[in-house]
Amino acid sequence: MSAEHSSTARTDTEQVIDRLTKRFDHQDAELSSEILNDVYRALLDGPAVHQSDVYGGVAYLTHYDDLVAVEKNTQVFSSAQGVRCPRQANQPLSIPAETDKPMHSEYRRLFLNVLSPPQVRKAEPFLRELTENLVRNYVAGPQDDFCQNVATQLPIRAVGELIGLDLHSSGEMQKHVEALLLHYGKPEALKALNGLTKIAQVEIDARRGNPRDDYLTVLTTAKVDGRLLTDEELQNMMRTFMFAGFETTAHMIGSMMLYLAEHPDVQQRVREDDQALLNCVEECLRFLPPVQTMFRTVTTSTCLRDVQFEKGDTVGLLYAAANRDAAKFENPDAFDLDRPNARLHLSFGFGQHLCAGSHLARREMHILLEVLRDYPPFTLGGPVTMLPHLMGGQMMGPEHLPISFKTSEGQN
Ligand code: HEM
Repeated sequence: MSAEHSSTARTDTEQVIDRLTKRFDHQDAELSSEILNDVYRALLDGPAVHQSDVYGGVAYLTHYDDLVAVEKNTQVFSSAQGVRCPRQANQPLSIPAETDKPMHSEYRRLFLNVLSPPQVRKAEPFLRELTENLVRNYVAGPQDDFCQNVATQLPIRAVGELIGLDLHSSGEMQKHVEALLLHYGKPEALKALNGLTKIAQVEIDARRGNPRDDYLTVLTTAKVDGRLLTDEELQNMMRTFMFAGFETTAHMIGSMMLYLAEHPDVQQRVREDDQALLNCVEECLRFLPPVQTMFRTVTTSTCLRDVQFEKGDTVGLLYAAANRDAAKFENPDAFDLDRPNARLHLSFGFGQHLCAGSHLARREMHILLEVLRDYPPFTLGGPVTMLPHLMGGQMMGPEHLPISFKTSEGQN
């Protein structure tokens, strides 16, 4: 690249960062992985409440303590009008993330029943065997895309095992979940949502006709507020299992593998040291979070950081920026395997709506790192493709990741 060309490219990038720092938009098509963290840094260095006129006005928050304060105060900062922005027309609010107390507690209980640490522990032999098989097949194959062959397969099958979802549906589920992210806000997203709903209804009907020994059957007889769940509620909850449990973890695993492939020293420590392995999971979550934003709606006049908010105002929670708040994390832009408080990241949210699947996601990451110790160190075998911007205004991570286990002699 010529000096002239490279200085033009630099200027273009700086212009985009400058533009987004003045008027942030989480859905901006130029908000790529290359500049995301520079934009967050600039926002963190600016006013604590970043008022942007996008989508009728959004007050974006980046400071760790402010995000925690908002997440704690669920009466004033409600989830029940949607946690994504702008809301997709005609899309039902998602259970349990887009509900408030008291129904939220009733619904959440039904997720925790199957995602709690003891339940995930019971599924560990399955998770380990699944991970071993996926990695073995990947290493024996062309080693062309870890995302497609391992990172997406692991979470979708893990959730399938926990709730009893037939695996033949998982390919179709994956297609719909990807379309939902890709076309968020457009009619195609509704089509994908309907596709997920159809899969859900087939599974519900199958259990109603012929109960099985699985969690989906339990849900068909579960009660909230003293009554059985309706078909709409059951469909909604199954969509949450499919959507929340799959793409999030898949992108997290992809980002972790990409980081380790590019940092052989970190990879080596994770191989040798159990504590480093545990910390690696938390530091990857802090440093490379797959879910970067969520939103809340103000229910009554309130004040935050001397800024007045009125009923109906939208507040944007920039988790990925708060994970880099220097007031909470020392030297926040460095990846540090020895960071003592990495686990305090906000990548799973905080408080009442803290991710119900966080234990499962962490175990999937731990088990994968343990299984990888049986293989030679890995590197990148070719160019990586990242999601072009925050997909659905929310998600970041690699889409194509050629992880290579080939040694210099070409042996696996
Ligand atoms: C690395 C992977 C994951 C990340 C980064 C992640 C992130 C998040 C975040 C940030 C929230 C908070 C939403 C809010 O405050 O509005 C959330 C909620 C939730 N997540 Fe996850 N998630 C992951 C994996 C999973 C998995 C595997 C499941 C299992 C099905 C799951 C199920 C849920 C559910 C049910 C909620 C709603 C909790 C509530 O509102 O009470 N997530 N997740």
